[in-house]
Amino acid sequence: MIAGGGERRIAVHVCGSVAAYKACEVITTLRKAGCELRVVMTVNAQRFIGATSLQALSGHPVLTDVWQEGTEGHGMGHIELGAWAQVHVAVAASANLIARLAHGFADDAVTTVLLASRAPLVLAPAMETAMWEHPATRANVDALRARGVHVVGPVIGRLASGATGEGRMADVSAVVEETLARLGAA
Ligand SMILES: Cc1cc2nc3c(=O)[nH]c(=O)nc-3n(C[C@H](O)[C@H](O)[C@H](O)COP(=O)(O)O)c2cc1C
Repeated sequence: MIAGGGERRIAVHVCGSVAAYKACEVITTLRKAGCELRVVMTVNAQRFIGATSLQALSGHPVLTDVWQEGTEGHGMGHIELGAWAQVHVAVAASANLIARLAHGFADDAVTTVLLASRAPLVLAPAMETAMWEHPATRANVDALRARGVHVVGPVIGRLASGATGEGRMADVSAVVEETLARLGAA
């Protein structure tokens, strides 16, 4: 069993997008709101931001690999985390994560925990406009929405490339608000 957490237990999933650093503010804001957090990262997310930062901000070790040692309980950390979380939030959700979720993949820590959970999922996508507008991404997002996933943004704004268009991650406040709303509904 994963110890602790009370009634406001949230798993924050971080992907390999430029906006991954915004997970820091999401984590800090949710903790200030009294939530107990666990963080899961994709391998590529770790190219953008270090697990050490997210461990410090969340107050707990970060799950980056379902095979990693030191998971709490019986070594099935992904199952335990899937059951522990009342709400999941993926920030900033990459086109790749969206595709993998839409097709039911469980090929890394993030997708495995999410597939092993019945808790609601809030997705905050962030990507270049061409990726967001690609028919494959459109179909994947539609499939996830039809399954009850709560997609927040993206919004029109300045992108990492310097261009302006739809694909900028929604404001952290909007992501936090939706996550807390799902917690209230859980
Ligand atoms: C510098 C750089 C920035 C990137 N930014 C984004 C991004 O904002 N959104 C996105 O969907 N993919 C972005 N990518 C591509 C993803 O990192 C790539 O698709 C990766 O496979 C995502 O892995 P993950 O979904 O497992 O985290 C970027 C790649 C690089 C090299």
